[in-house]
Amino acid sequence: MSEVIGELLGVGHQYDEGPEIFKGVSFCIEKGSFRFITGLSGSGKSSLLKILYLGLKPKWGSVKLFGKDTFQIKPTLLPLLRQKIGVVFQEFNLLDHLTVIDNVSLPLRVRGIDIKQSYKHAGELLEWVGLGDCLKAYPPSLSGGQKQRAAIARAVITRPQLLLADEPTGNVDDEMATKLLCLFEELNKTGTAVLITTHNQRILKKFPYPQLALKEGTVFQLPIEKKAS
Ligand SMILES: Nc1ncnc2c1ncn2[C@@H]1O[C@H](COP(=O)(O)OP(=O)(O)O)[C@@H](O)[C@H]1O
Ligand SMILES: [Mg+2]
Repeated sequence: MSEVIGELLGVGHQYDEGPEIFKGVSFCIEKGSFRFITGLSGSGKSSLLKILYLGLKPKWGSVKLFGKDTFQIKPTLLPLLRQKIGVVFQEFNLLDHLTVIDNVSLPLRVRGIDIKQSYKHAGELLEWVGLGDCLKAYPPSLSGGQKQRAAIARAVITRPQLLLADEPTGNVDDEMATKLLCLFEELNKTGTAVLITTHNQRILKKFPYPQLALKEGTVFQLPIEKKAS
């Protein structure tokens, strides 16, 4: 059996006094796996990813990452776990006061890689996602689709062990969506586990990976979609 790098066990959550959005959700993320999280708007897809990248502490249950119970270990160790995870946020979360190439190269810089090498790698990746002309631009001047591609480049640049992407193709056309999914597949082939939330049916048909479907606070494992021609 494959190594488990992430595990939710009996996770329950409600925001403030709102309804329970998760009712005992349990699932594992295996090393090198590729899965989609699907569900209607408001079903909890973004909240589930937030729990996995430790941006939201659920009210019940446990969250294990890379073999560690995240509620039991010393809080000072959490950043070490977090460094192994790349995140594409639904709202992009680019730093507006930094240029695109500085945003994308930042994860390498904080790991101690020198600026020349960081820029080289970030520049190549940005070229690949079609942002070669925007290296010196600032995020507020970019379109939604351009910000999304910059956010994806930033998330994958460190080749994380786990990539969590929240609606990463929500702002791009079908051709770019396919290209970005191919980038995630390439990363997956090098061993990164990929978990993507989407409600793009064309993408789900074209990329026949297993789905975790969220409905009424629980998750269901769905069979693999038929591949579209
Ligand atoms: N910060 C928050 N405070 C209160 N309610 C929230 C918050 N974030 C999300 N919710 C609620 O939790 C539910 C799930 O939201 P979300 O995880 O964003 O779903 P999805 O990504 O599937 O659209 C929704 O009812 C939403 O209104
Ligand atoms: Mg969402």
